[in-house]
Formats: sequence, C-alpha cells, structure tokens
Amino acid sequence: QSGQRHLLRGRVLTFQSEPQTEADTEAYTYIEDGALVISAGRIEAIGTYDDLKQPGLAETDHRPHLLLPGFIDMHLHFPQVQVIASWGDQLLDWLNNYTFPEEMRFADQGHADDMAAAFYNILLAQGTTTAMAFCSVHAGSAEAYFTEAARRNMCMIGGKVMMDRNAPDALCDTPQSAYDDTKALIERWHGKGRAHYAISPRFAITSTPAQMEMAGTLVREHPECYIQTHLSENKDEISFTKALYPQARDYLDVYQTYGLVTEKSFLGHAIHLEPREIEALVETGAHPVFCPTSNLFLGSGLFDDAGLRAQGIQSGIATDIGAGTSYSMLQTLNEGYKVLQLQGQKLHPLRAFHWITRGNAVALGLEDRIGTLSAGSDADIVVLNSQATPEMALRALRATSLSEELFILMMMGDDRAISQVYVAGERQKRDARAA
Ligand code: GUN
Ligand code: ZN
Repeated sequence: QSGQRHLLRGRVLTFQSEPQTEADTEAYTYIEDGALVISAGRIEAIGTYDDLKQPGLAETDHRPHLLLPGFIDMHLHFPQVQVIASWGDQLLDWLNNYTFPEEMRFADQGHADDMAAAFYNILLAQGTTTAMAFCSVHAGSAEAYFTEAARRNMCMIGGKVMMDRNAPDALCDTPQSAYDDTKALIERWHGKGRAHYAISPRFAITSTPAQMEMAGTLVREHPECYIQTHLSENKDEISFTKALYPQARDYLDVYQTYGLVTEKSFLGHAIHLEPREIEALVETGAHPVFCPTSNLFLGSGLFDDAGLRAQGIQSGIATDIGAGTSYSMLQTLNEGYKVLQLQGQKLHPLRAFHWITRGNAVALGLEDRIGTLSAGSDADIVVLNSQATPEMALRALRATSLSEELFILMMMGDDRAISQVYVAGERQKRDARAA
C-alpha cells in the first residue's frame, strides 16, 4: 500500500461547518456506502463507493465502520506520560510534587527519545493524528518530539517549554537561553515536513518579566509560529499571578503586555475569566482550550463553553495529559459533556465530533490540510467501530440515528473503538479486519 493509490470503503463522515443538530445537514456530509481515494498521502476524492470504485484500484473495506478525519488534541504535555494518574493535589502542588520531578528526567536524551516513541504509539492507538504539546525545558526533548513525529510523517505542533523561576533549578532556563534554544528549534523544525513550532512560555508564574519580554520578541520575529501557554486554571494560580504581576489588569493582561495574545495563541483551561479577559479574547481571536478530564481531576473548575461561544470565541478541546486522565479524545468528549451538563449546557454529538476534528483544525488555521476529508486534504483518517465492546454492541442495537451512534462512541468508546488509523495515507494499526 505504501504511497500507492488506493480506496477505503466505509461509512464516511466529515464536516463543512459546526452542526448544532442532526437536522443541520448543510454542516456535514455522511455517506452510508462511502469511499475515499487516497494517493500520495492525500485524499484525492470523497464520494459514494459506486462513484469512486475503479477496476484495478486496491480497496480496503472498513464497513460497517465509520471513516472520520483523525482526531486533534489541542493541548497536552509530552514529558508527562509518566505523571498521568498522580494522586491527591490541585494544580500548584501537583506541579511541584509530581510534574516538575518527572520533567527533570528529560535532561537525559535517551529517556526523551524512548518517551517520544511511546507517546506517538499511544496517540495513534487513540485515533489522535495531530496534537499541540509542550515539551520539557530541555531543547533535546523538543528534538525527540519532532524527530519521532517526522519519522511517522505526523502533523505535530509543539515547543520547548520556557520557565525561569518558581521551579527547581534543574528545570529553569534563562531569558537568553530560552530565546536561543527556541530560535534554533524554530529554524530547524518549523515548516519542515508537517511540523509546526509553538512558542511555549509555560505560564505567568514560571516566567520572569524578562523572559516574557523575550517570548514576545520571538513572537514578533516569528509570526508564523503558534503560541501556547496556560490561563486562569486555578484560583491559587490566579492570586499568585496577580502578586507576581501587580501592574497587570488581570491574568490575560500579563500575556497581552508582552504581545503573546494573537489568533495563533492557545490558552489552556481559561476557566475563571473576568469580563475584560473575555472581551480581549474576542478582540484578539485567541483560543481558550477546554481540558475537561484535567479540570475535573485537579478540581480546577468548570469551563464555560456556552458563555464563550456566545461571544463568538473559538475554543479548542484537549486531553491535557498528564493532568488529564485519558489520552482518548472520545473520553475527553465524555467528560466534556458532563462538565457542560453541570452548567445546564449541551454538547450535541455531531458538534462534539466536529470539535475534535474540523473545529480544532479551524482554530489552528489548518483546515485545508487536516480535520476534514475534503479532496486535497492530507489523508489522516480514523476508522471508528461503535460496536467495539459487548456493552457498546448491545447499546448500538437500539440506536436509530447517526447522532445516537456517535453519542455511544463518545460515552463508551476509547482506544478499543479505534479500528484503524491512517497517517498521510499510511495504515498504522494492525487490524485483522483490514487485510
Ligand atoms: N499550568 C502550568 N503548567 C501546567 C501543567 O503542566 N499542567 C496543567 N494542567 N497546568 C499547568
Ligand atoms: Zn497544560
């Protein structure tokens, strides 16, 4: 199959815009006996099987499964693969007691390389084909992250984290070394193959004003790069930030002061926002990122999805490993649904699957490459089995609509529901069904 033109047959689902209900048929394309023609790593055509089948064209039959765009995880931490499931603390203690000690181990290049291989194996098993991740403070961790992604031809976004205070000495860089390392990594990786760089000051607490200034300089010098950081996740974090930056109007103003808030900025959590911060998100086009399993795990709070949407703000959705408790974007939707329920808000399954595919891609400005199954897109595809377990199969017997089936997938599904994954047209998983 390598690089060769071939056809995938299955129930095809992709989105043109954000659907609110199943009746919103303009927003999505669902083809019961559908097909995708893949060639040179791209989707050449999408249509019915009858229209696209050709004599001599190799076929993989994924029926009765669904073919969707690969999932996109908008925020997680590569050096926290051994932090997930660490007991008892809220954010600041969790960072000091569990996270920082673990991130220190990425000073060892062998460890970083091993973890990078494990990290991508896990993402792909979960159907995640693109993610934006923080690496550790060590340039070598970003090197491992991008090298392994390139080997697999994955579209990945990330950056070396910058932090120069309120962390162990072994995890602190300096404004100058953060600048030099980041600059070198951007030159080495941004735009190489499918890689994108994200300038990554960890959060206000762990960067001095001098380092924030440097980060702003990098953003001005590299407007093509993304920016990732954290915003208003936890009440104690917000008080500490205000004490460290007494002149700032609010938390987001710290980042605004240094030119770090643009439409390419991704702000993890954004839970406890003041009205001025919400206005600033609208004006700048920056993206809050909803991390439901993490927000519940650390007891951080409830993300106001409906409130932000009402202002026209485009939020991302993400696992936030290692504070998040599952790598699965399906399980992330499950918990996200419940976070919204607690606030009297709704997450329709079609909107949910739009969010983890095209929605996150639009926030990235990459929807012409990933997040849909449109002709011309890179062929990052996930094959979903809504009867992957006996309990799912039993429930699926009573499903009478696509929305119901998707809801079963997002409530009960995890890596077992990921029957197959394609990255740039290449099959990733061993699967008895797909010969
Ligand atoms: N804020 C600053 N760093 C982190 C992190 O690693 N995880 C989470 N959840 N929040 C953060
Ligand atoms: Zn985070």
